Amino acid sequence: MKSNDGAAAAKRRAGESAADRVSDGEVVGLGTGSTAAHAIRALGRVVDGGLDIRGIPTSHQSRALAREAGLPLTTLEDATPDVAIDGADQVAPLGVGDVTGDGFADAEGTILVKGGGAAHAREKVVDAAADRLLVVVDESKLAPVPDHPVPVEVLPDAVPTVETRVRDLGGEPSLRAAERKDGPVVTDNGNLVLDCDFGTIEAAGDLATQLDAIPGVVAHGLFVDLAAELHVGLVDDTVVHEF
Ligand code: 5RP
Repeated sequence: MKSNDGAAAAKRRAGESAADRVSDGEVVGLGTGSTAAHAIRALGRVVDGGLDIRGIPTSHQSRALAREAGLPLTTLEDATPDVAIDGADQVAPLGVGDVTGDGFADAEGTILVKGGGAAHAREKVVDAAADRLLVVVDESKLAPVPDHPVPVEVLPDAVPTVETRVRDLGGEPSLRAAERKDGPVVTDNGNLVLDCDFGTIEAAGDLATQLDAIPGVVAHGLFVDLAAELHVGLVDDTVVHEF
């Protein structure tokens, strides 16, 4: 099996493992990205099998996929998610943790870096509203300490002032450029994204609070201590950690 096939299979395993934890009658927040997509497809199959599940999408992508999979949809106006399933670009342990061996065994929770698909603002709203957030990743996403650039969704007019404040905090912001379109990525909410490189992030909770306080920041991709379960897809297995 080629390594790309291995990573794809690991993502599928993680997504399906989390979908298995959803019960009849539940409302499910639907994350964005290739790993969450596997969970959405699995939930569509469960609905085909007769279970009553409704989804709340976090992006155009997850909405379209859920419709294609036959998963009935609802909104935050009409329902509160019992559970959310979402991917991440990086996952590090909160507190004492070890990502090797039976990694995360001693961790108090997780630090997620999200926003690779620029959907983190809606993802944060839905994930935080859910009683339990199930995070789905392949093992390449695990890190002992977060060091992935943090996506920050910004009101377009505020880009220069937010860039200055991010530099004051020790970060290097970079406006995310679109592919197959000239100019920047525009989010589903009509905003822009600064990918902010802070190097190794030793105090993620403090950084999250500081980013939240910058005028013009809509949402950043640090999700600290939100996850209830971490489903890690391996080459031939899935490991689940509960917090
Ligand atoms: C979207 C996200 C995604 O969950 C994250 O980028 C992971 O995506 P993938 O499962 O495709 O690796 O945060 O904003």
